Order: sequence, then structure tokens, then C-alpha cells
Amino acid sequence: MNLIDGKKIAAELRNELKVEVDEIKKKFKKVPGLTVILIGDLTPSQIYVRNKEKSAKEIGLKSEIIKYPEDIQEISVLNKIDELNKDETVSGILVQLPLPDHIDKQKIIERINPDKDVDGFHPYNVGNLSSGYESSVPCTPLGCYLLIKRTEPNLSGKKAIVIGRSNLNGKPMAQLLLKENCTVTITHSKTKDLKNECLKGDIVIAAVGIPELVKADWIKKDAIVIDVGINKTDKGIVGDVAFEEVSKVAKALTPVPGGVGPMTIACLLKNTIECFKRSLK
Ligand code: GUN
Repeated sequence: MNLIDGKKIAAELRNELKVEVDEIKKKFKKVPGLTVILIGDLTPSQIYVRNKEKSAKEIGLKSEIIKYPEDIQEISVLNKIDELNKDETVSGILVQLPLPDHIDKQKIIERINPDKDVDGFHPYNVGNLSSGYESSVPCTPLGCYLLIKRTEPNLSGKKAIVIGRSNLNGKPMAQLLLKENCTVTITHSKTKDLKNECLKGDIVIAAVGIPELVKADWIKKDAIVIDVGINKTDKGIVGDVAFEEVSKVAKALTPVPGGVGPMTIACLLKNTIECFKRSLK
């Protein structure tokens, strides 16, 4: 079994991006910038945002975090987004989710200029992705896609099973694989006989949030298995795939941690640079 080392591949991607940022600085005398809005004090969000800022600075991007208290009014956030949309030094804007209940997530997402939408959550980008046009692509499925392509460059005709139908992961993942001429099935928690659906997959992407749901007898021999899950359990953090047993059947498998996670942040940096390049057009 080939262990897909997301940590190493993400480090390589960050190195490539750093070179690109250096070239941009030389050529355009400008620095691509990422601004993250963090509302409230949820610990996981604080950790994610800190890691995003650290990685952005390491490759030479300008990076800024705007922090608001939990009880900030929605209108204040919308006004700040308007300001950032106009600010030429800001290439990408990310509002860290989840948001407090009194703030309308969709309203916030739709206020971000689609050209600065590094998350790829704006309906304009969602529509472009599903139409096969150029768009920002959500960071986690983009990271999964890059890992799959490194393992198997020609995906044409492969059967891909996506477990999970979220806007963040499952749906954009399916679109990316469709673009590569895969035959894609999106499954989810209500799918009947999920095990037999999975068994048909040359590629299986588990993004459903159920600890170690996918077992060895769900996986076709020599399938590629990508584990998006991050589940806290008594025995520590585990993915949606039973790693030990599935590693005996799969051709390639991502570990948790150290698989998809590091690719997500690297892809956020990639998206920030893409937004900068789009701003030049
Ligand atoms: N919270 C957890 N993952 C994400 C993400 O990819 N983007 C944003 N904006 N918030 C998140």
C-alpha cells in the first residue's frame, strides 16, 4: 500500500507557491494578501486561523486576521467585507466558519466579491465549478483532488464514490472528479447499502464525519482511498476510514492526521495567489 503523505506533498506545494510569490513580487512590485475574519472565540477556529496566517506568512504573502467578539452585529461584518472588497492590497477574503447563530452565513458568503472568494463558497464560484468554467475551488476538495492526481494522473473512466454531500466537501469534490471524466456517485448517510456502493469505487473519498465508518470489506482491491474525516474519539483523532484494515486492501490511502489536512491550508495559499492573478486580468 502506498501511503499518501499529505504533509510532504503540502510542503512541496508550499515551496512551489513561495517561488511563485517571489516572482510576483519581483515582476509586479505587489504582494498578494489574505485577510481572514474570525468571529467569536471557538478554540478550533482560532487554531485553524492561526495556522492559516502562519503558512501564508511563510510563503511571503501578506496576511491579516480581523477578530470580532461573538456578539458583533451582522451589519458590521458586512460593512467590513465591503471595505475589503474595495481594498486593492487584499487579494483573498475568508470568513472562518462556523458563525454565531445571529449571523446569516449565506448573506456573508454572498457579500464577498467572487473574485476574492478564496473559499470558493460564493454561488457564482459554485455555479462556475459545476459548469466546468474557471472558478475558485473549495480548499479541502481541491487538496484531495491534487493528492488523487499525484497517485493516478489519468482518472478518465474511473468510478469514484464520494461519501458525504456537503457544500464544503462532497459536492465540489464530485464536480472536480466529473471534470476529469470519472463516473461519480455521491452517497451520504441515508444511502441504502453504502457498503456495496463503496465496493464499486476505483476511488473512494470519505467526507461524512463518522469515525472509521469505511471498513476493509467496503473497499475494492487496489482502490485509492482519501480520508477527509477528523473525528475526536476516546483513542484520539481518527478519520472516516478504518486505517489499519483498509491499508491492507487499498492501493493508496491518506493517513489522519497528515493526509488531507495539510493540503487544505496549502490550497488556501494557492487560491489566494490565483485570486491575485485574476485581479491582474
Ligand atoms: N471552517 C472549517 N473549514 C473551513 C473552510 O474551509 N473555510 C472556512 N471559511 N471556514 C472553515
